[in-house]
This record gives sequence, C-alpha cells and structure tokens, in this order.
Amino acid sequence: TERERTERVSAARAELGDDVVVLAHNYQRRELVECADFVGDSYELSKRAAESSAEYVIFAGVTFMAESADIITDDDQTVLLPSMEASCPMAGMAEALQVDAAWAELTEAAGDRDVVPVTYMNSYADLKAFCAEQGGLVCTSSNAHRAFEWAFERGDAVLFLPDKHLGENTAHRLGLEDGVVEWDPWDADERTATDVADADVILWDGYCQVHERFRVDHVEQARREHDARVVVHPECRREVVEAADRSGSTSEICATIADADPGETWAVGTEIHLVNHLQRWHPEVDVVPLCGDACMDCNAMRQIDPNYLTWILEELAAGRPRNVVEVAPREKELAAVAMERMLEL
Ligand code: 13P
Ligand code: SF4
Repeated sequence: TERERTERVSAARAELGDDVVVLAHNYQRRELVECADFVGDSYELSKRAAESSAEYVIFAGVTFMAESADIITDDDQTVLLPSMEASCPMAGMAEALQVDAAWAELTEAAGDRDVVPVTYMNSYADLKAFCAEQGGLVCTSSNAHRAFEWAFERGDAVLFLPDKHLGENTAHRLGLEDGVVEWDPWDADERTATDVADADVILWDGYCQVHERFRVDHVEQARREHDARVVVHPECRREVVEAADRSGSTSEICATIADADPGETWAVGTEIHLVNHLQRWHPEVDVVPLCGDACMDCNAMRQIDPNYLTWILEELAAGRPRNVVEVAPREKELAAVAMERMLEL
C-alpha cells in the first residue's frame, strides 16, 4: 500500500541521512514528488545537483537528466536513476554520430558563415560533448533565448538540436523568424534544397511527441468552454505558443499558476502529471488540462514507478548502489564545458 511504501522510504532515508538527496522533475507522479527533497524543471534540478554535497543523488526523471546531474556533480558523487527505461524519445532523435556526420555536410553548405551548435538539455552526454568541442553550449527552455544570444556573439548562425519547436519559438522570440530553416537529417533531397548559407537558425528535425499533440483548436476550446487563460510549454508548435497567453518552462508554468488570482481559470498545455500537481497545489485557482480528455502523459517519465524509488533507497541503505548513471570521463569533461557555459549565462 502507499502507506507501507511511505514508511519504507522514510526508514531507508533515515538510515542514509545526508548521504542522499532525491530530485524529482515536475512531471513525476505525485508519490515521487511528495518524497523528493527538490522538485523543479530541468534547469533548476541541474543546479540543485551541482550545489548538493550528498554522496548519492537519486534522480526521479529521465536518463538525460540523470546524465546531466552526473556531468555537473563532483567525481565522488554518484547519480542513480530508479529505472533505466526512462529515456526521453526526443533526446534519441539527435544521436551524436548522426549529428557528427551532418555537421560536415552542414558546415560546408554554410560556406564562410560560422555555425554554433546549441543543444537542448534534452539530449545525451555525447551530443553535449560534441557541442562543446564545436564551440557551442547547452540550454533549457528557461534560457534558450540567452543561449542563442551567446551563440550569436560568437558566430553567424545557430544549429539548434533536437527540438525544432523550441528552436523556432526561441528564434521567433528574438525576431529572427525570416532566417529559420529546417534541417532534415533523414532526407538528403530536402537538405540539398535547404538554403543554409543564408540561415540564422538551422533547426534539427526533432520534437516532443507529447507537446506536439497540442493544437490551436485546443486553445480556442479552452477559451470558449472555460473562459480560460492559457499557458503552454515552448516544446509546443509555434502556432500554439503564439495562440496562448503565456509560455515557459515547467517551473515558469508553476509560477504562472502560483501568481494567478483566486478564482481565475488557467488551461495548462503540458504533461498531465504537472497539471494534476497544479490542481492540488493551488486549489484556489481553476486549473484545467488544455487538451480536455486526451491524456497527454509522457511515457518516459512514467517509467519511474514509486516502488522503484523504494527499491533503490533500500538497496542503497543496504550498501548496494543500483542503476548508477555514469558518463565516460572524456565525454563528461567536454559535456561539463557545454553545461557550465549555460550555467554562466
Ligand atoms: P523543463 O526544462 O521545462 O522542465 O522541461 C523538460 C521537459 O522534458 C519538457 O518536456
Ligand atoms: Fe521528453 Fe517530451 Fe517526455 Fe519531456 S515530455 S521528457 S521532451 S518525451
């Protein structure tokens, strides 16, 4: 039962004391969020991991988040992921080997323009390392516009990976929409027809399969049926972000609801678990899911079952660290450069 599980988690945590810190992403299930030391967006959690002195960091989130925590924590800290199955499909849409091959083709097509690669945090360590090597950096949804500005101080164009929607929304925010092109890694004919030489922002053709499902008519429906204001995540399509009243990272969405006046209605366009948390955390605000009944949940995030957290804590308390996420040393060193550039923004 949930009660038994809570007792077992508390007992293991009491034994481990300050040796362990539990971080949970905003999309995690209620049971996990309730027993975490910190809950937040990707950027906040990476900062928490960097600031923590705990020997073990348990990350209730997806693989790239645990990897990022390993990259920026000290070498004597160990990061554990309750389930190794929790992989963000978008992160898998830009594999370092494939990007490496595309880079040669792309930089040749760009002629004498310097391209700076910017990768979204939702990517694997080897791609972060590649970006560092090519003079680029990492960003999250809360600082993508600053990462673009950083890149434009150093080069003529940005290659943004893997999320084309966040890239397009960021370009739009910076007034660069005329110079945006899409780079299709799977279609050579499309690529030949793409005019990279004049582009400011080159978008890799990746996307989040949860956020891509939101549509403008969901926004119109929320206004019509609930008289709601609308806040969405910038992984949504550009027309959805434009139709909404606001957009921001998961924590910026939380802040929007926290600042709402009692009695206001907000439709929230993001992963359903966060919408459910917001309904519990702010009963004075009327929070509705943007898509109504179509349940927008993230398969990858859902892999972290509360029982796995209990298991990993109990094993750790028994001296058996399980599911250690460890980035290879050379990759870690380079990826750390790309992440530190972000943390310094
Ligand atoms: P945040 O950085 O806004 O928490 O987003 C992470 C994510 O995976 C959104 O789908
Ligand atoms: Fe990846 Fe989308 Fe899930 Fe976020 S919501 S972890 S981007 S699949």
